[in-house]
Amino acid sequence: MRLSVIGCGYVGLVTGACLAEAGHEVMCTDIDAERIAKLNAGGVPIYEEHLDEVLATARKNGRISYTTDTAEAIQFGDAIFICVGTPPREDGSADLSAIDHVAQQIAAEAKSPKLVVEKSTVPARTGLELQRTLAAYSKGSSITFSVASNPEFLREGTAVYDFFHPDRIVVGVDSDAAAEMMREIYKPILERKFKCQVHKNGCPTEPKVEFLVTTINSAELIKHASNSFLALKISYANVIADLCEKLEGDVEQVTHAMGLDPRIGTQFLKAGLGFGGFCFPKDIQAFIQLSSTVGVDFEILKAAERVNKERIDRFMEKVSKALWVVKGKRVGVLGLAFKANTDDIRFSPAIYVIRRLLEEGAEVHATDPEALGHAQKILPNVHFHEDPYEALRDTHAALVCTEWAAFKNLDWERAGKSMARKLIVDGRNLYSPKRMAELGFEYHSFGRS
Ligand code: UDX
Repeated sequence: MRLSVIGCGYVGLVTGACLAEAGHEVMCTDIDAERIAKLNAGGVPIYEEHLDEVLATARKNGRISYTTDTAEAIQFGDAIFICVGTPPREDGSADLSAIDHVAQQIAAEAKSPKLVVEKSTVPARTGLELQRTLAAYSKGSSITFSVASNPEFLREGTAVYDFFHPDRIVVGVDSDAAAEMMREIYKPILERKFKCQVHKNGCPTEPKVEFLVTTINSAELIKHASNSFLALKISYANVIADLCEKLEGDVEQVTHAMGLDPRIGTQFLKAGLGFGGFCFPKDIQAFIQLSSTVGVDFEILKAAERVNKERIDRFMEKVSKALWVVKGKRVGVLGLAFKANTDDIRFSPAIYVIRRLLEEGAEVHATDPEALGHAQKILPNVHFHEDPYEALRDTHAALVCTEWAAFKNLDWERAGKSMARKLIVDGRNLYSPKRMAELGFEYHSFGRS
């Protein structure tokens, strides 16, 4: 099929690349001319595992093209995936102006029937507004538009893998024809009829992917409800960690045992600095805001958000207590990205920690395997190092902010020799307290003695 993707950010680029890999012809567009130029030159503007290989294959097969001409992209596809940003507004609600703008352009430029697919995360009832906008701005033309909501559940860092191996594909539709078209688009993934870049010898055929057809409102709610629930789980684990500290328990032992109950599950119970990134923080804010506009007070979600914000305070309390005086101390920060395997620093707990350290007068030396470039742009007063051992040299404390494997596997015996003081404050519970004590470190983490 011929598909268009509007917006070449994380979601749009991964969607476009993977749909091309699945056999479709895809045209991607973005208003950022620099980004399109880079893509046209064979570059990849974001770091995402396997994305370079998938894009290179699609390019070689002539199945993907890029343009800054939105009208050209709109006219290209039978289905148009809207993947533009929905950033938070001051009050936490989602800013839908980019979606509105694109909808108006689609209405004005389309020359054939289109299935308009909202892929960006949006509050419930956006699809209905999308239908109204398409009708209002097509000025009586005879072209028909259908709308579908197709939320993404991609984790940054494993987005390509997740696209090819989803737990479920959710499509909220306004007609049977739209549902059929969406099923056709995802057929190669549902039937696993291609070799993805991840499993070069063929993808596992089990478990079968659930293809769920719902109303548009339900599909939109599924996305917000899923992300919010995961955020609740993390904040719950973090409160348990605080309790463990007061009551001499071990949060790793507690959450592990909890998770073995299949009704709870082991994932997303990792205590530490809390969640960041461009999804959870903004999605839960938008969900709280949406709920309040319809008179539903989402108290538990507000609590989860508050707990998450307070993780930075808890961490800084540990740092201050351990260092006594923070002012003038040289500290090494391991990690800038909001989680491992991504270069994304948006709403990253590490960035909040660094800002607090700078406010308190510390000299900050930071490292990250992928996020240095982004961080350098927003943190002018930080010393950046590619080599973690260099970042830790002569420091009075090592602060672990992101759970990169490279930090987990760091040779602490080596690092410790060059540090001014053997102190680690670990915001991601990466190491065994016993092992760190054996190596002669003063070691602090979350919810463990
Ligand atoms: C998330 C959802 O997982 C995905 O389905 C959705 O489509 C987009 O939002 P992502 O933002 O990439 O994906 O991050 P995710 O891997 O879910 O982690 C979010 C944050 O939670 C990270 O900062 C991570 O460090 C933190 N986290 C995660 C914890 O603090 N504890 C955990 O147990 C799990």
